[in-house]
Amino acid sequence: MADDKESQLGRLGKALDLLAKKILEDEKVIGDEFPYVTEPSGVWRTMPASLSAGYRPEGWSHGNWFCGFWVGLLLASYLWKKDDRYLKLAGERMKLVAQRAEDGNTHDIGFIFWSSAIPFYRITGDASHRDIALKAADQLRRRIVVTPRGSYLASWGPLSDPRGRSASAIDTMANIPLLYWASKASGDASFDLTGIAHAEMTRNFIRPDNSTYHAVEYDPASGKRVRGYTFQGYQDESFWSRGQCWAVYGYAATAAVTGETKYRDLAEALGERFLQRLGKDRIPPYDFDDPDPKRPLDTAASAIMASAFLDVAALHHDAETRDAWRDRALMLLEPLITDALAREDSHRGLLKHGCYSWPHRDGADSAVMFGDYFFVEALCKLLLPGKLVDTPAPLGS
Ligand code: GLY
Repeated sequence: MADDKESQLGRLGKALDLLAKKILEDEKVIGDEFPYVTEPSGVWRTMPASLSAGYRPEGWSHGNWFCGFWVGLLLASYLWKKDDRYLKLAGERMKLVAQRAEDGNTHDIGFIFWSSAIPFYRITGDASHRDIALKAADQLRRRIVVTPRGSYLASWGPLSDPRGRSASAIDTMANIPLLYWASKASGDASFDLTGIAHAEMTRNFIRPDNSTYHAVEYDPASGKRVRGYTFQGYQDESFWSRGQCWAVYGYAATAAVTGETKYRDLAEALGERFLQRLGKDRIPPYDFDDPDPKRPLDTAASAIMASAFLDVAALHHDAETRDAWRDRALMLLEPLITDALAREDSHRGLLKHGCYSWPHRDGADSAVMFGDYFFVEALCKLLLPGKLVDTPAPLGS
């Protein structure tokens, strides 16, 4: 059994070798733009870092919320290979990403800087990265909508737009770690208070069976929940698998920051519900309730959940419970290594079979940048603990 674990960690290390190889190759061909999903041919589709989100005639457009992940992948490669070329490339890319720190259009600003400026600061101690991340955190904090029933971070669009002001998405739970980091880095507790208030209000997303809605529309004046709905899932009442992973990730972070077991319990309950729906399958579908036998898989969901489960594990003192959550993370990672790793040169990225948005037919059965990042984040938690991201302390310590 111990040998199995050793060899599994060895295989995870080989995935980081593959990342380091492919990212250098990609850097030679992608120019100034940033990869986000692969085409059916396996080549990266790219977009400029500057592309902000916004309401277009055809609906909400997320813009480039992927660019920070690319920096994070370069930094992980640097940590793994100890080769300065990766750090230099990350620095050049960071200059392009930094302009987004003043972007007031989207909650995704959390993703952008969580995966780039924060690890950059952790690795180099260069205060300019800290300052950029704090600027971004200020933009995210400004998105708070205070109501008599609690406060939430609006997800999509500037707050002056009523559509943006009333909408909150489950993905925001994985953006709030930027606020938690900012509180510690600046000593300003209002960052924490904002994130915790949002996490509390996000209970409105949780159905009685512990699945979650993708989005909730609020009445911003009263804070009343108007409806739950979806954007990237199968239908409003269905179980969008990735959304559940964002929720677990954010509740684990909220438990770490508050020291409160109620948030760890919530992360675990939502994580267990995900595993129940996964059942004997190795990789989740993009939505557990889409009845189409040809529904695409979403390897990114497994990667995010694995990273979240490693945080849940770290929140426990008790070795048996800690190991049980770590084993669940490894169980999710294993099929990614055996069935989904893009070993062939023609398929760029690390994880095949991710799904950005099936309803929009965008990045389905593809490598998706966030899937690659959270996969690598999980690998770094296992192989380079505390280097790319902090390890939460056990509750009660
Ligand atoms: N916008 C976050 C996601 O696609 O999961």
